[in-house]
Amino acid sequence: MSINSKVSVVGAGGNVGGIVAYSIAMQGLAHQVVLVDRDMDRARGKALDMNQAAAAMRSHSVVRVAESYEDVRDSKIVVITAGFPRKEGMSRDDLLIKNAEIMREVVAQVKVVAPDSILIIVSNPLDAMTYVALKESGFPKERVIGMAGILDIARMTHFIQEKLGFGAGQIRASVIGGHGDTMVLLPRFSTVAGVPLHDLLSDDEIEEIVMKTKHGGAEIVKYLGTSAYLAPGKGTAIMIESILRDSKKIYSCSTLLDGDYGYTNVTTGVPVMLGANGAERIIKVTLDRCEKSQFDHSVKSVQNIIEVLYKNNFFGEEKYERN
Ligand code: NAI
Ligand code: 2OP
Repeated sequence: MSINSKVSVVGAGGNVGGIVAYSIAMQGLAHQVVLVDRDMDRARGKALDMNQAAAAMRSHSVVRVAESYEDVRDSKIVVITAGFPRKEGMSRDDLLIKNAEIMREVVAQVKVVAPDSILIIVSNPLDAMTYVALKESGFPKERVIGMAGILDIARMTHFIQEKLGFGAGQIRASVIGGHGDTMVLLPRFSTVAGVPLHDLLSDDEIEEIVMKTKHGGAEIVKYLGTSAYLAPGKGTAIMIESILRDSKKIYSCSTLLDGDYGYTNVTTGVPVMLGANGAERIIKVTLDRCEKSQFDHSVKSVQNIIEVLYKNNFFGEEKYERN
């Protein structure tokens, strides 16, 4: 494991970024964890708290606050959670232009000081923000990866356990597609201790799990008044661990499809292998007709969001080429 690695988190003064940085420090995944936030006081307060937690844990991780992007220099991984979270009644897409501008501003600075870094994007709308980061950075697609699939799968896993009343820790769920209401849950590829989900639950029960998972984020917003951050933060830390340890584990992540699954020039969630070089390989799942049609619908909805950016001249005069 690269214990000398440096990981920077932009937006770390906020909820998700704070949990990402805390998880890395607690696990001792990186020696240096750099907190970047435009709200310097929140970053300073969180850094102190995390360093004291790390000291209590006897972790070798040291948390620092970035005084400028110079402190991000040579990071192995830069996580970007900067942006506005969803408020009740707000869709992820409402956040589009606001967060795209923030993403562009952040990536423009990161690429100068950490040109070889791997970017993990968390800000919403997730797939479109991953696309913006990819375009703005000019990095190869392997090095710009969006986190959402791990979260959506964790939610599906939780709701399966809740419905069954057993199987915690033994459930393997599967979700692909865009991070939004069109996400594609794959019960056919979901198991409990190797037993297919369809052998354990009826179609109606599975449909209930599908709906609960799709609305899992909104349900938390309803209670907290802001979006989830513990599971999203942990999901991001899991990706960081796989990259730093070069574990080559497979996770559903948003990545550029470049002929994969029949699409180009769109970022969406599919299973990818995460290793030292980032998203080292896209894994092809053979979908049946119904799953494929749901996936197509989901990709189209991501394309529509990306197209809104082009129509607003976010990428200059360039027109969006979609297929
Ligand atoms: P938050 O409001 O708690 O934190 C955002 C942080 O970004 C704030 O501390 C703010 O000061 C900072 N920030 C804003 N603009 C900045 C800039 N230009 N430079 C540096 N820092 C800047 O929000 P939270 O809950 O942490 O969510 C962050 C983002 O992550 C939101 O867009 C949210 O929708 C998204 N999200 C995505 C998930 C996923 O599955 N991909 C899950 C949960 C949240
Ligand atoms: C979630 O799904 C808001 O994308 C975030 O909780």
